[in-house]
Amino acid sequence: MSPLTQDDIRFRSWTAWVSAALLTWSITLLAPLNASALLDDPPAASPTTQPPDAKPDHDHDHDDDDHDHDAKTKGRKPSSIRRPAHRHTGKTYMGREIADVMSYLGAPWLFRPERIAEERPDEMLAALNIKPGMVVADVGAGAGFHTLRLARLVGPTGTVIATDVQPQMIQLLRNNVRQARLTNVKPVVCTHDDAKLPKGAVDLVLMVDVYHEAANPEALLKDIKAALKPDGRLVLVEFRAEDPNVPIKEEHKMTVAQMRKEIEPQGFRLAEKLDFLPWQHILIFENLANPPASNGVPKTDGDGRVPSDNSGSGRRRN
Ligand SMILES: C[S@@+](CC[C@H](N)C(=O)[O-])C[C@H]1O[C@@H](n2cnc3c(N)ncnc32)[C@H](O)[C@@H]1O
Repeated sequence: MSPLTQDDIRFRSWTAWVSAALLTWSITLLAPLNASALLDDPPAASPTTQPPDAKPDHDHDHDDDDHDHDAKTKGRKPSSIRRPAHRHTGKTYMGREIADVMSYLGAPWLFRPERIAEERPDEMLAALNIKPGMVVADVGAGAGFHTLRLARLVGPTGTVIATDVQPQMIQLLRNNVRQARLTNVKPVVCTHDDAKLPKGAVDLVLMVDVYHEAANPEALLKDIKAALKPDGRLVLVEFRAEDPNVPIKEEHKMTVAQMRKEIEPQGFRLAEKLDFLPWQHILIFENLANPPASNGVPKTDGDGRVPSDNSGSGRRRN
């Protein structure tokens, strides 16, 4: 074998350098594709799925303080996608601030991969005893994170009515429903004063992380009551305001006491309270045939706990 020349050595080290560079580039390019394959549902709002004429409903002045949702919980890894910035509405209802509507620009946050562990959506829905053939309304459905799951639970003989006050959210939801090849979802753009629900036709109304944003809570509850069948149920899922470690801004959280104070006088009764989720309350209200008088403020211990004489089970599952 003839000895290597200087040119041979130079050529071989150049080839080794090019191979190493190509390997690094391909790893960098393929990593995001692998990450998106881990998503439980299709991404909600990539730039291509956003309506081209989309405009923000309000300023999005992202600063570090606005993102303390992610920073407050000790030892928790920050979310890969941040909840969008928001502003104060300055409006109050029964002693709490009404939160600003979360803009459709935040739709990717609603589909963040961490949400599965943080909110356990499938276990939450499993606790609601949803049956094939039911009519379920996902009020404030956003881009359809729960709508897709509900549509599978009620099956082809059931219907999910998915409403939102933001037409852009409903457009994103339509895209996600189409992509999931579901045919039993009715997307509806509603308003703060008209929930646009059919009368006496709904078995269950679900509102996840929505009620605290309702600009006109009494109008919304009146429409929900009219939409529910006599044995229909209203389910609110809200971040626990009693727990300072839940990493969500105060006006986007609610106590049990506050929810009961607002919901029960409108013709509902707390039937069950489930607290097995890491950060959220699940409150199941039944539709009362004869609503109490308007002064029917429920008994609470003022600390977010359901008193023992209430039928709410308060059971914990973990
Ligand atoms: C934080 S997002 C939650 C979306 C969805 N429920 C989820 O869990 O992915 C709140 C949504 O409620 C909608 N919303 C607020 N007030 C509403 C109302 N009165 N009626 C219907 N939608 C409403 C907002 O537009 C927003 O899309």
